[in-house]
Amino acid sequence: MSTYAQELKATAKALVAAGKGILAIDESNGTCNKRFAQLSIPTTEENRRAYRELILTTPQLSTYISGPILFDETIRQSTRNGKSFVQVITEVGMLPGIKVDTGAKDLAAHRDEKVTEGLDGLRERIAEYYSMGARFAKWRAVITIGDGIPSQACISVNAQALARYAALCQEGGLVPIVEPEVLIDGDHTLERCYQVTDRTLHAVFGQLYAQGVAFDQMILKPSMVVAGKECPQQPSVDEVAEATINCLRKNVPAPVAGVAFLSGGQSAERSAAHLNIMNARYAGICPWPVTFSYARAIQQPALEHWRGESQRVSEAQQRLLHRAKCNSAASLGEYSP
Ligand code: 13P
Repeated sequence: MSTYAQELKATAKALVAAGKGILAIDESNGTCNKRFAQLSIPTTEENRRAYRELILTTPQLSTYISGPILFDETIRQSTRNGKSFVQVITEVGMLPGIKVDTGAKDLAAHRDEKVTEGLDGLRERIAEYYSMGARFAKWRAVITIGDGIPSQACISVNAQALARYAALCQEGGLVPIVEPEVLIDGDHTLERCYQVTDRTLHAVFGQLYAQGVAFDQMILKPSMVVAGKECPQQPSVDEVAEATINCLRKNVPAPVAGVAFLSGGQSAERSAAHLNIMNARYAGICPWPVTFSYARAIQQPALEHWRGESQRVSEAQQRLLHRAKCNSAASLGEYSP
């Protein structure tokens, strides 16, 4: 058992406390720059810092957000006035999180499939992040649906890496967020997404168990069971909620501290609507809290308003807070669009 077991349990519980969710702002520099470039925002370190300051200093953010997930560059940054972001986060009672994977890379011998890297030196990096104040971590694995894929090899190597990461996190005092994302890209049906998510979660929990990860000291960050973006037959909100809950109930052990979804390219409104029905209809039959850990579905309206202009910060913060509030309501089954 980890020497941090009691602390990890308390942290995991706090991350999924009633009415709260996690805010992912851990885009790598490459991803952040891509989102900036789409809006013609100059892709500089200072703009990335200013944007993260906008988010983290949003008034009342901690009412709805238990913890933001940061990127390595961000956890070392400060506000314009010189207060470290970690201090900004902890002062209002939120928990700092950190992305520790180093990205999804091409999987050798498997065209169009990825394996997430970042295990080398991870024990030492976790120790550094813990000493900087981080209390939870994230690792994202990517599973692609396509012709003949995902392969069992892709699912296995990613599940193994997720479990090795999670065990190292618990050893070093960070609650692992275990994120196996089944991508929304493609024209696959809801049923196919269910099968792939089922296979993936089964493999991930098999590895977590085999490698001694404590379920009550981790959070699962899954994708919802949806149809591919290009699928002509798009399911209803009710169908997505039902399929997702069925898949989770089949695969996620009861002691898991919480389930916090990614938004995965769904619109802000749609991802909130799905989360809302899951909680309004199925909370009574789920053994774990079901909440959000969204990036785009919370940030995008704020980023589109801000566009790198300092006089737009306050309104952008209002937009961010609005999405956080909507998803908080959805996590309680009380959201109305
Ligand atoms: P999205 O909510 O934009 O999918 O991002 C969640 C996340 O953290 C991906 O790793």
